[in-house]
Amino acid sequence: MPHRSRYLFICTNRRPDGHPKGSCAEKGSEALVDALKKALAARGVANVVRACASGCLDLCEIGASVVQEPEHVAYGHVTLADVDAIADAAASGHVVERLVVYPPGGPRGDAPLETKA
Ligand code: FES
Repeated sequence: MPHRSRYLFICTNRRPDGHPKGSCAEKGSEALVDALKKALAARGVANVVRACASGCLDLCEIGASVVQEPEHVAYGHVTLADVDAIADAAASGHVVERLVVYPPGGPRGDAPLETKA
């Protein structure tokens, strides 16, 4: 398969029950991978945008976490209700501004963003 123009990395890390950091998997991220793959395929862009299961993105506190590259944005608190918006945005080279989070004290990002509600 060719290298894709855009990637969605979905953290599917799972920690033991009761772990203080929690994990994205316990917040439903495993279902997000399948749902995003299906949503991208339904839009006919699976050969352009790839949804991939990922290990911990070190954004545990805002999980379920999804990183979109090359826009270099992190989405937080993602649920299945957000899948269509994420797929629509990724398919068109935009981001879902309402889901974008930034590391505490960190920069807003170093790449210009086009936004889509
Ligand atoms: S467990 Fe998902 S970002 Fe760390």
